[in-house]
Amino acid sequence: MKIAIIGADGQLGTDLVPALKGQDVVPLFWPEFDVTRAEAAAEVLARIRPDAVINTAAFHRVDECEDRADRAFAVNAIAVRDLARICRTLGAVLVHFSTDYVFDGEKRKPYLEDDRPGPLNVYAASKLAGEQFVRAYTERAFVIRTCGLYGKSGCLEKRRNFVETMLYLASSGRVPIRVVNDQVITPTPTMELAARVAELIRTDDYGLYHMTAEGFCSWFEFARAVFEFTGGDPSVIVPVDSAAFGAKAKRPAYSVLENGRMKTIGLTPFSFWRDALSAYLRDPSWGK
Ligand SMILES: NC(=O)c1ccc[n+]([C@@H]2O[C@H](COP(=O)([O-])OP(=O)(O)OC[C@H]3O[C@@H](n4cnc5c(N)ncnc54)[C@H](OP(=O)(O)O)[C@@H]3O)[C@@H](O)[C@H]2O)c1
Repeated sequence: MKIAIIGADGQLGTDLVPALKGQDVVPLFWPEFDVTRAEAAAEVLARIRPDAVINTAAFHRVDECEDRADRAFAVNAIAVRDLARICRTLGAVLVHFSTDYVFDGEKRKPYLEDDRPGPLNVYAASKLAGEQFVRAYTERAFVIRTCGLYGKSGCLEKRRNFVETMLYLASSGRVPIRVVNDQVITPTPTMELAARVAELIRTDDYGLYHMTAEGFCSWFEFARAVFEFTGGDPSVIVPVDSAAFGAKAKRPAYSVLENGRMKTIGLTPFSFWRDALSAYLRDPSWGK
């Protein structure tokens, strides 16, 4: 199977490349391959003639999206519509990623794929629009909502993930570290998500999927676990509520996803989030 991966050096893209070993993988990198340049993207993909296109590209700096709605919709929605069109024309399967933030958090129980979305911020609205464009423009597509991603490429200064940000702030003496304790999520390692995508892409069970690690925690509890597993001092983290933290974009207080559909079709279950985090931090390639 020939698979083009857009954003192949991002957090998820970096782990997708080895997860798809054995397939004919064609990695595509920004800015040479820009999803917002539809004509050029169509030409490149027509030359590759992929069986599947995996799109990890996103504009996902949630607070910045509030001020740059045009950019958020260009990358997260309009470009996704164009990719869906291109894939349909080429007869390629599209794999696209969305977010737990499409929900408003009011349910307070894990969200299923068919629960009604209610985006609270520009980023979430743009990602939901992207999902709807995929559904409208091509039938042969997997849309995967995930949550709280962290992966090896998030060790780079350029795109430090939450885990690395906590450790960096502590090691550079920027303490105490204020972390929100009233937003409940599921931290999910990109390595496991990439492995599940590699399983899913072999099926033709197209549609919408929730895919995260198991269990849930607040961002504060996530941060505490990072220090617990790395032998750091957890007392440097201070719990605050979202109002005191004062982020620009409103976020759901609860955005835990139930991996309903992937369990139904029999994909390998995800690990519990703490076990997955511990494994990530014990990986000899971590931080390299
Ligand atoms: N991160 C999370 O916690 C999280 C949670 C839920 C859902 N998601 C979704 O999961 C997906 C993957 O997230 P991730 O954390 O792996 O993201 P990431 O690390 O930022 O990777 C995205 C990749 O796409 C590239 N890119 C950015 N703009 C592009 C454009 N216009 N055209 C082509 N490539 C472009 C980025 O390049 P540069 O790095 O050079 O900009 C990067 O290589 C996204 O759809 C995101 O919305 C993420």
